[in-house]
Amino acid sequence: MSDQKMFVGIDLGTSRSSISTSEEKHEYVDSFVGWPVDMVARKVLKRKVLIGGEAVENRSMLDLHRPLERGLLKEGSEKDQEAVRELVAHLMRESGVGKARENGASVRGVVGVPAEALRVNRQRLKDAMRGFMDHLIIVSEPFAVAYGMEALLHALVLDIGAGTADFCLMQGRYPTEEDQRTLPNAGDWVDEQLMKSLKEDIPDLAVSIHTIRRWKEEHGFIGKAPKSVKVTTQIGGKPTEIDITQSLSQSCNAIVPPLAETMLDLIATVDPDYQETVRHNVILAGGTGMLKGLDSALEAALKSYGGGRVQRAEDTIFQGSKGGLALAMDAPSGDWEKLPKE
Ligand SMILES: Nc1ncnc2c1ncn2[C@@H]1O[C@H](COP(=O)(O)OP(=O)(O)O)[C@@H](O)[C@H]1O
Ligand SMILES: [Mg+2]
Repeated sequence: MSDQKMFVGIDLGTSRSSISTSEEKHEYVDSFVGWPVDMVARKVLKRKVLIGGEAVENRSMLDLHRPLERGLLKEGSEKDQEAVRELVAHLMRESGVGKARENGASVRGVVGVPAEALRVNRQRLKDAMRGFMDHLIIVSEPFAVAYGMEALLHALVLDIGAGTADFCLMQGRYPTEEDQRTLPNAGDWVDEQLMKSLKEDIPDLAVSIHTIRRWKEEHGFIGKAPKSVKVTTQIGGKPTEIDITQSLSQSCNAIVPPLAETMLDLIATVDPDYQETVRHNVILAGGTGMLKGLDSALEAALKSYGGGRVQRAEDTIFQGSKGGLALAMDAPSGDWEKLPKE
């Protein structure tokens, strides 16, 4: 048995989850978990459970769960709870933390979750972490991102993921409820808009939401269309090229007004003496934060309020888990919750 102490930061995202450890291991996985639907599927897949991209690829044979969808660990869904545990188990295994803990290491983990999940389901999240770590702190994802970037004072972090857009105002102390906002206008919402708009144009279109998401990630943009965007898809069983420029433009741009409004609202709550500093310290994080042109569009919205600067977070995959790790290393012993041994 060792008396080793390990620290980990875990980011449990709607679409992607990641871990960063004090041993400098970083791993991520798409937040999908699937169980074979029947005996045939089990025979084909030869596995009890599939995780991440593999689960998405084999979805036709699986009972597929995305446990943090809409930022929530859905109440009453035991499968979602189990899916979160599978994701955490996977991250622990891949990063070597699981093994170290089996050998007696004590593990302290900071887990970042969508702000809404934290508000509604703290207890379920805590239960889901049992057996993986010895001490726990649960925080909202945007706070973890802010902490990792040392954007602690007079900064506003917009973490725009798949399920939700989370805002977190940093005023040199732990953010309160009033410092945080959550909107449903994030990546999944754009995907749904795009799906709807394309179906209106092309009623015969039969395309999965996974393909829609990929089109958006490859070609999405805010502002003026760069050029015409064409993709090839099956229509009536035949590969057909379609022009998605108009629909893509509409669905991506639709995200800007709600984001800008909430950003300006939150800034208005700051002591007027500091508002200008905050306006120049807006940080855009999360996968949807990478949408081309979103930073400029938000800067444009700040213009009539005196102007500002919107900066992108650098590491888009590990920004949350690295922030969680930084928090774990700094947290005083009184901030930790002890978890029961399994
Ligand atoms: N280059 C990109 N352009 C636009 N959207 C993107 C891009 N890359 C990822 N996304 C979108 O970002 C979302 C995932 O962001 P992420 O921060 O990982 O989410 P979460 O924290 O909810 O897991 C998805 O909706 C995905 O489609
Ligand atoms: Mg996230």
